[in-house]
Order: sequence, then C-alpha cells, then structure tokens
Amino acid sequence: MAVIGIMSAMHEELAAVLACLPDEQRVAVAGREFWLGHWQGHAVVAVLSRIGKVAAATTATVLIERFHVDTLVFTGVAGGMGSGVRVGDVVVANGFVQHDMDASPLFPRHEVPLYGRARFETDANLSAQLAEAGQQVLAQAAQHLGAGTLAEFQLDSPRVHQGLVISGDRFVATSTESQALRLALPDALAVEMEGAAVAQVCHDYAVPFAAVRTISDRADDAAHTDFNRFIREVASRYSLAILSQWLTNRPPD
Ligand code: ADE
Repeated sequence: MAVIGIMSAMHEELAAVLACLPDEQRVAVAGREFWLGHWQGHAVVAVLSRIGKVAAATTATVLIERFHVDTLVFTGVAGGMGSGVRVGDVVVANGFVQHDMDASPLFPRHEVPLYGRARFETDANLSAQLAEAGQQVLAQAAQHLGAGTLAEFQLDSPRVHQGLVISGDRFVATSTESQALRLALPDALAVEMEGAAVAQVCHDYAVPFAAVRTISDRADDAAHTDFNRFIREVASRYSLAILSQWLTNRPPD
C-alpha cells in the first residue's frame, strides 16, 4: 500500500490530523515524533514539519528514508505576496524558490548551487488534486468555519490560487522586505519558511510533493488581529478539510 507523508507546519493542524487516525502509533526519530496510522483507508505518516528550511528538510528526509513515503503533502500558513492573494485565501504551490539563496557571483541569484536551477516544481497531478479539494472546501467555507468566524476574520469569498511560493529563513513582517521580495521575485504568490527545502529533498528522491498554504497575513507591517486564533479557527480547519476532501477524492490504492 502506498504511504502518504503529511507534514503539518503547526501543532494545531497536526492535532486535527491525528484526531482522524484511529490507530496511530508514535515513532521517535531525530528528536521528532512521527505518527503512523490510517486515514480513510490510506496509510499515512503524519509529523510536525518544524520551522525553517533545515529543520523541514530533515523531517522530509526521515519521512522518505525511514518511513518510505511515496507521496508527500505539506500544509501550513503563508504570507500573501501576489496582488489579490488575501488573508483567508489558499495557495497551492506549483513551484518553490528559496528567496534567501544567493551564491552570486559564483551562481545566479536564487540558483541552488550544483542543481542548475532556482525553482523546484511540485508534482502537477498532486497539486491539481489539492487545488480541486481546496476549491471544494472553500466553496463551503461557512460550513467548515462557521458563519461567525467568516464574519469575524472578514473572509469574503475566499479563493484558491496556484503558483510560485517562496521560502526563506525569515518571517517577513515589514512592507519594506515584502516589497523587496516582490521586486526580486515578481511571480511569487506567497512566502513561508519551509516549502522550497522540502521540494528540493523530494526532487532529490523523486518523491511526488505538493503543498497547500492558508494565507494568514500579507507579509507586511499590519499585525494580524490574532494570529493564534486565526491558525486555530481558520487555517487548521482548512488544512484538515482540504486533506480530508483530497483523500475522499483520491482513488483507493
Ligand atoms: N508564514 C506565515 N506568514 C509568514 C510570513 N509573513 N513570512 C514567513 N512565513 C510566514
């Protein structure tokens, strides 16, 4: 049976996933807790990604080397970069770039040395499946979040976007920095801290990879009303609903 690796960026997301695994078993490796079980008849290994590129790369490598996952899916939150990418929208990555990779003048800016590329693609089929699941969930956003939560966070007709996501070891929280990133990487829809590292590991091992991120902020000076409540009441509910819908849509192995 194919094994699906699920990396959650946030504790709340992982807890929601684990609540769906009736038979989970904990295995500790590299200071991380990996949870093996079944979800809707699919064999899964769920784990907290940890924060930042190196930590996430280690987690992905263990999922592949030790737990032999055939597919890897990442969920979390991100800062919106593209115009029209609003808080409460969902971005499904079709590729990743490390915005803080710069070995110039030896290599072009953003290129990962010895790979001959800056951009690592996600798996097109898997990403299309996640985008489809995301659209199904967002079409019923009130049902998943409750009308009160939608109104409170002013989420109006949330949308799914597909495109470039950029990663770096920095939480982007000033307009100056997000503007500089927009200039350097104008196609970027969202910014986060792990995806490009996981995409590179999955490229190395030829493991299909996809990532879905709920936009929690606009990567600028405007402090989010309540980041933790947003994660609990919006982002982790979206992540769970999208993964669950994806598994429902997915043909059995
Ligand atoms: N994850 C969520 N928001 C982010 C931001 N603004 N920068 C980096 N990672 C994030």
